[in-house]
Amino acid sequence: MARVRTAVLISGRGSNLGSLIEAAHAPDYPAEIVLVISNKPDAGGLAIAARAEIPTKVIPHRQFASREDFDAAIDAALREADVSLVCEAGFMRIHSEWFVKRWEGRVLNIHPSLLPAFPGIHVHEQALAAGVKVSGCTVHFLTAELDSGPIVAQACVPVLPGDTTETLGARVLELEHKVYPEALGLVANGKVELQNARAVFK
Ligand code: GRF
Repeated sequence: MARVRTAVLISGRGSNLGSLIEAAHAPDYPAEIVLVISNKPDAGGLAIAARAEIPTKVIPHRQFASREDFDAAIDAALREADVSLVCEAGFMRIHSEWFVKRWEGRVLNIHPSLLPAFPGIHVHEQALAAGVKVSGCTVHFLTAELDSGPIVAQACVPVLPGDTTETLGARVLELEHKVYPEALGLVANGKVELQNARAVFK
């Protein structure tokens, strides 16, 4: 079985990267992680990739004059590694429209809320402030608008009395580590694809 060559884009800790790498160790998993790109040289996820002997590339966004130039460097690295799918996992840069179009239907992102609720940053603070009784995570296709593309997978956890951003965040993160590998598996298997700006399930 030819596995889909997948890159993971990170900016930090890389726990979701770790869960994708672990899932891809299963012989029947339809994707393989062939490249990890970070815009931050000190991202913890780079060590996770190195331990798994996955090639890494640091592309610091500050070295580029524009968003387009930064995205062109990412695009070149992805093409050089013959990547077909991209997973963004805590990647803290917004892409240019050019990049979004070029990789349309081939980039996934994970967000720690039940989108469309609470996009952006300080997600668990937003959830606690709103007083919601459930929260969760969402894997979606990347679109030009932040945290808003067609949804591939979602799952929820309760928000418990006395929750802090830390306790809620930890509960959601544990869920993310299950949902992201499942979502990537679905897309890599061709069970879900982006068609006319919708996620179509087969
Ligand atoms: C996760 O909560 C993810 O949903 C969000 O950023 C966080 C990244 O965590 N986009 P990690 O680097 O994968 O540990």
